[in-house]
Amino acid sequence: MTAKILPQPGTLELAPSILSADFANLANEIRQVTNAGAKMVHLDVMDGHFVPNITLGPPVVAWIRKCTEAFLDTHLMITDPEQYAEAFVKAGSDLITFHIETVKDPGSFIKYLREKGVSVGLTLNPPTPVETIEKFVSLCDMVLIMTVNPGFGAQAFIDEAARKCRRIRQIIGPTVRIEVDGGINQETIAVARDYGADTFVAGNAIFAQSDRAAAIKSLMDAVQK
Ligand code: DX5
Ligand code: ZN
Repeated sequence: MTAKILPQPGTLELAPSILSADFANLANEIRQVTNAGAKMVHLDVMDGHFVPNITLGPPVVAWIRKCTEAFLDTHLMITDPEQYAEAFVKAGSDLITFHIETVKDPGSFIKYLREKGVSVGLTLNPPTPVETIEKFVSLCDMVLIMTVNPGFGAQAFIDEAARKCRRIRQIIGPTVRIEVDGGINQETIAVARDYGADTFVAGNAIFAQSDRAAAIKSLMDAVQK
């Protein structure tokens, strides 16, 4: 299976997070957001160890792959990403994002993921200093700035964490995507864009609404204003 290409930097993209979706009805939930224009779907993988919650594994990603052509943006919030990444690639992930806090040799792991044919994202928790990722960001396709402490949807946006986007944008220029994740809504999406983000994960702001198309339109209107 050939991985899909990450949308080129220069466009503003929403990545709806299925964390807040109805897991018993995932195909339909995903169809609603892709029909409304979302090109990416954000998959939050939690292991009950790196974060205090448990979500989904490679078999679920494989079923999702069968029901959508969307770009599958897989966010590994797990202690041993080196052990499990290949299974997520085989399941059909198009991009694997891992946490800097979980890997001893990030440069080698980025290279390994590239050789598997997927795009690579690198992320860090709100308390983790931006210096820890600086020398690796130019090797990635996307940098993910966590704007909540990971584990749960519907938490409040941490502005101080979002400001890291500015520093990352200074380092990488316009050629790498910067994604923000956590607490994105109609107000915070424009704040994160002003800091330099171009890719916006939104779970609660989309899937807690009964009209997903209206929720997506309202977020896109807010970020394009
Ligand atoms: C948090 C996850 C997020 C989460 C965002 O640990 O990584 O992707 O789904 O949810 P909202 O948009 O509800 O803050
Ligand atoms: Zn996420």
